Amino acid sequence: MSHNTILHLRTETKPFEHRSALTPATTKALIDDGYTVYVERSPPRIFDDEEFEKVGAILVPEHSWKEAPKDRIIIGLKELEVEDFPLVHEHVQFAHCYKNQFGWEDVLARFPAGNGTLYDLEFLQDETGRRVAAFGFYAGFAGAALGAWDWATRQLTGKPLGQVEPFQNEAELIKTIKADIAKVPGGKVPSAMVIGALGRCGKGAVDCFQKLGVADSDILKWDINETKKGGPFKEALDVDIFVNCIYLTQKIAPFLTVDQINEASDRKLKVIVDVSADFTNPNNPVPVVDRDSTFKDPVYTANGITGQPIDVVAIDHLPTLLPREASEAFSADLLPSLKELKNRDSSRVWTDAKKLFDDFVEKLN
Ligand SMILES: NC(=O)c1ccc[n+]([C@@H]2O[C@H](COP(=O)([O-])OP(=O)(O)OC[C@H]3O[C@@H](n4cnc5c(N)ncnc54)[C@H](O)[C@@H]3O)[C@@H](O)[C@H]2O)c1
Repeated sequence: MSHNTILHLRTETKPFEHRSALTPATTKALIDDGYTVYVERSPPRIFDDEEFEKVGAILVPEHSWKEAPKDRIIIGLKELEVEDFPLVHEHVQFAHCYKNQFGWEDVLARFPAGNGTLYDLEFLQDETGRRVAAFGFYAGFAGAALGAWDWATRQLTGKPLGQVEPFQNEAELIKTIKADIAKVPGGKVPSAMVIGALGRCGKGAVDCFQKLGVADSDILKWDINETKKGGPFKEALDVDIFVNCIYLTQKIAPFLTVDQINEASDRKLKVIVDVSADFTNPNNPVPVVDRDSTFKDPVYTANGITGQPIDVVAIDHLPTLLPREASEAFSADLLPSLKELKNRDSSRVWTDAKKLFDDFVEKLN
């Protein structure tokens, strides 16, 4: 059955969240396709409210989704605020309740309580099982950016990079960090190694290094073929910045260890960026990284390293650094599936997501 599809973009409520599930461009594409789109006014959102109004969206007050007619599909990125009223709408969002997360039952129970539905963005998949939309590219991009910025800051001040704020756009980020790299005496530019270079995050990291002026020959790009010989890898000590971007699925030999680093007679390595951030996983391939960092305090010194310290960047919400481009890339990837919402009773991506929801609701009972 084809539905008359009405979307309602809610404002995000998490602190420092400037990203958006819909952008003015994807909103326009949906309206051109016959959808009606309501957009909550949202001061923190990286896009101005008027940009949505200009493409034909109807602006509504913040948090108005709670009282909106039942036939609207509520779309947002991050989880809803913790409240306990039953949810009566269909919701498209990340809800983090299908991986046994703490408190998942309370989050999920609100949907069946109001006869609502959750379509979790993390589990919208194509026919090969790959996510239709993910934030990986700009996570890798932001991770590489912070690694390079920390490298330059260390060279210039002897201190690690301090608090960072989201950038208005990618061009501004590149300009700012390139200017600091240009001040490094001797015209030095960092070298880098990216593991997981063929993945979303890895491609973003490589793209960022290239845009920052690192020569392609100074970016070692490794993926599964290069690591199958098993770590730890000497090559990781011979670059200034090491970036881990792999999708960890099994136990593997670590890429870098504290002993290996301390035993090396000389090394270039100064910064480790752990985009994958699997430090709570017993199979963590970068055991030098043992905790996360934040935008407020993006860098810490690795524990147990003798000689020249190693800086670690391990932020688990890196795309927040570039809310505009991260939203644009994510929303553009999501758009073909959103256009299928009108056929969600028969469209595989949505029926799969609904089945997953029903299966987990079943587990609640
Ligand atoms: N820190 C953040 O803000 C942030 C944001 C998004 C994603 N992530 C994380 O980044 C990781 C990668 O995500 P993605 O979307 O790029 O995944 P992806 O599946 O697109 O890419 C992963 C890549 O890793 C490679 N890989 C897997 N095992 C490897 C190994 N042993 N050696 C070398 N390469 C290997 C794969 O071949 C693939 O190319 C995930 O763990 C994801 O959760 C972090």
